[in-house]
Amino acid sequence: MIFMDWNSRFIIIFLVVNLSLNVVAAQQDENVSFWQNYGLPWGTAHVQVLDQNTQVQLTLDQYTGSAGFKSLQTFGSGWFSMKIKMPQKDSTGVITTFYLRSEGKWDEVDFELLGGNGKERPYVVHTNLITNGETGREQQFHLWFDPTADFHNYTILWNSHQVVWFVDNKPVRVFKNNGGSFPRQAVSVIGTIWNGTWTSNGAPVNWNEGPFAAYYTGFGVNACPTQSINGSHCSDDSTNYWWDAPKYWSLNPHQMKLYHYVRSKYMVYDYCSKNPTIPECHVDP
Ligand SMILES: *[C@@H]1O[C@H](CO)[C@@H](O)[C@H](O)[C@H]1NC(C)=O
Ligand SMILES: *[C@@H]1O[C@H](CO)[C@@H](O)[C@H](O)[C@H]1NC(C)=O
Ligand SMILES: *[C@@H]1O[C@H](CO)[C@@H](O)[C@H](O)[C@H]1NC(C)=O
Ligand SMILES: *[C@@H]1O[C@H](CO)[C@@H](O)[C@H](O)[C@H]1NC(C)=O
Repeated sequence: MIFMDWNSRFIIIFLVVNLSLNVVAAQQDENVSFWQNYGLPWGTAHVQVLDQNTQVQLTLDQYTGSAGFKSLQTFGSGWFSMKIKMPQKDSTGVITTFYLRSEGKWDEVDFELLGGNGKERPYVVHTNLITNGETGREQQFHLWFDPTADFHNYTILWNSHQVVWFVDNKPVRVFKNNGGSFPRQAVSVIGTIWNGTWTSNGAPVNWNEGPFAAYYTGFGVNACPTQSINGSHCSDDSTNYWWDAPKYWSLNPHQMKLYHYVRSKYMVYDYCSKNPTIPECHVDP
């Protein structure tokens, strides 16, 4: 073991964690119809439901704005997972999202997959957490795979103890409920494609490469449906909600190792490094 380099050590840790996470993964229903849990409140333009309703394609070109889909219900906790394939070719300035957002007071938990060309402009996983309208909690990561070549799992675990962002079951970010800011509103689950030059240091979208197509699949929802999180029937109820069981209240030792490894190797932006006095930046997962 002593002579092992970091990469092979990572692979071993990774195998162990994958085994323990398969229990979770099995509960994600692969072939659930899109229409069972989701709808198209923003219209059908540039949305195609494919493959016997198990896959959705969102497209973007220079003439239309964003396209997207949204869950039929709102939720108060859950294991929100989506398999996403980012647009191919040079997708600089194109943003593929998967996020949770409340209706009233603005709470949001984001995955925003920022396009690039895979070379001098790498693909970036941008994460953010907004509570009660308070934003500016961005953390960004490069990826250890080509996110345009195949589907990968992007997962948000949200219970009353923590929010965890996973990429292919590896925890890349943790936000603990420390009694301070924390998402506390019922949320919708949303997927969109849109464009914005904030993602690329001002580099414009190369529309000649368009239309850009992002693919989503895995429309099962493991979450607690509720109109309001009030009454807290969505938390600390591990009988009905497995993602609320104590083992989901914090990372296990294997996940901690992965978390530290991924962050040390792939994190490229952290709001905490700009302002280390923020209390939540000192909470150890
Ligand atoms: C899901 O659907 C795909 C293609 O429609 C099929 O190949 C696969 O066997 C299905 N998986 C399950 C678990 O039913
Ligand atoms: C994504 O999760 C599913 C289980 O839901 C698993 O079968 C698959 O291997 C995962 N994909 C990747 C790329 O890790
Ligand atoms: C997206 O692209 C369109 C077409 O070029 C442009 O009009 C619009 O301002 C862009 N949106 C953003 C947020 O940059
Ligand atoms: C929760 O319910 C209490 C009492 O009914 C109310 O005062 C409070 O505003 C509610 N909070 C939310 C977030 O709905």
